[in-house]
Amino acid sequence: MSTTTITIEPLGRGIGAQVTGVDRDRMASDDSLPGEVLRALEEHGVLVFRNLRLDPETQVAFCWRLGEVDTSPGHHPVKGIYRVSLDTSKNAAAGYLRGTFHWHIDGCLAEDDAYPQMATMLTARAVAKSGGETEFASTYAAYDDLTDAEKEQFAALRVVHSLEATQRLVTPDPTPEQLAAWRRRPVKEHPLVWRHRSGRRSLVLGSTTDSVVGMEHAAGRALLDKLLRRCTAPERVYRHEWSVGDTVIWDNRGVIHRAAPYDPDSPREMLRTTVLGDEPIQ
Ligand code: OGA
Ligand code: MN
Repeated sequence: MSTTTITIEPLGRGIGAQVTGVDRDRMASDDSLPGEVLRALEEHGVLVFRNLRLDPETQVAFCWRLGEVDTSPGHHPVKGIYRVSLDTSKNAAAGYLRGTFHWHIDGCLAEDDAYPQMATMLTARAVAKSGGETEFASTYAAYDDLTDAEKEQFAALRVVHSLEATQRLVTPDPTPEQLAAWRRRPVKEHPLVWRHRSGRRSLVLGSTTDSVVGMEHAAGRALLDKLLRRCTAPERVYRHEWSVGDTVIWDNRGVIHRAAPYDPDSPREMLRTTVLGDEPIQ
């Protein structure tokens, strides 16, 4: 039962919108809200709820109304919450989170052939004194803005994604042991252009991209780097400056994101809930 609607104001860069008129109670009990959030997410890519002060249980319960939630252990007592912190006392696997400083799609390298996640929600519990903003860019727009010749040229291209590619950005001079460990993780191949069930298309870009199949490594790398630069040009990026209590959700199928660097000793703590994907990259 509900006839209320939410107010959605675009944030001005072709990506992101601020949502007002929602509070924690509506998140918990308004039956029309999940559908409206999904529609707005499809349209705007990123939704910002300032000062929502969502508690972890309500966050997870709301995300279950959007789709299936990832309930793997997340260094947090509430099932469905993953604690994002560089503090190893809060998250023993914090080292891996340095990977979030580079543009990426969540779940592009899943080991078990899982589909990339549909959406990710973050709530700020503590913020960094400086840095730690989260930046978003639309990979739908990145596709739409290609020239017709590029669309034709890229239609059949396939890209190899690897753990090594992401880790080299974090650790440029690996030891042989590190390198061997990275290379034990199987690589994944995805098309450059993702044809979504909705009919939309997006580019599959970000730190996991390694090489273009059938292209010389350096040439493929140059193409991937150029496309990422275009996709993430400053005027195309929404940068969220966090206050404690903000919640942001993004459409992980058509958005790439990264965290601006922050100090490893920073108290910054985000609670993440992941809505699993139901669509392969195809
Ligand atoms: C993530 C992520 C960015 C941030 O949790 O998947 O990329 O700003 N986080 O913490
Ligand atoms: Mn991420």
